[in-house]
Amino acid sequence: MKLVKYLAQLGYGSRREVMALLESGQVSLSDGREITAGAAFEHAQLRVRGEPLDVAPGSVLMLHKPVGYVCSTRDAGRLIYDLLTPRFRARRPLLAPVGRLDRDTSGLLLLTDDGQLNHRITSPRRHCPKVYEAQLAEDLRGDEAALFESGRLMLEGEDQPLAPAGLEVLAPRRARLTVTEGRYHQVRRMFAAVGNHVLQLHRSAIGEIELGNLAPGSWRPLTEAEREKL
Ligand code: URA
Repeated sequence: MKLVKYLAQLGYGSRREVMALLESGQVSLSDGREITAGAAFEHAQLRVRGEPLDVAPGSVLMLHKPVGYVCSTRDAGRLIYDLLTPRFRARRPLLAPVGRLDRDTSGLLLLTDDGQLNHRITSPRRHCPKVYEAQLAEDLRGDEAALFESGRLMLEGEDQPLAPAGLEVLAPRRARLTVTEGRYHQVRRMFAAVGNHVLQLHRSAIGEIELGNLAPGSWRPLTEAEREKL
């Protein structure tokens, strides 16, 4: 791909604006040499106004989504893109969320512009486990784990039962739930189906990728080792 198109797709401006950046010497190589529009280049070697480029195409980011943010580019209110580099809104393809978290759910959100990878993680056929911790309004009854694991739980308004899900009771009103699907408001509706109500919901892991101690509102690219686990 030509340099101008490449930088425009990364959100550095329209092609005309990127051309102006080049012509004014604001695009360089890591050793300080200027680069021309027709030259061959490598992502890691490029600098814009002296700064390394944003993450390369095909990257996967992890974000610690706080409560109150919506997984969208356009909705009213606070958006996950408010927490990322502003240029990411203009990137094409977009660094899109891998599945969504509700506004009121916190925790691990992956974002990528790799559509195939996104599909691989979210497709129910791949059975990629997602781990949630839920704080509940009522004490657990004791029969929830068996019901969730049965593969027979039918959510209201649906005609296919849920795939088996694992429940670990952490306290009378606290549980860790592992699901392999991503149906609408799935975890909240599962607890509603057993007469409970989710007060707080947090996703701690997707497959083998764990949120760890990343601060709320912060993000980072996955490491190579984490990428391999996906
Ligand atoms: N299940 C829910 O109910 N909400 C989420 O955000 C994720 C899973």
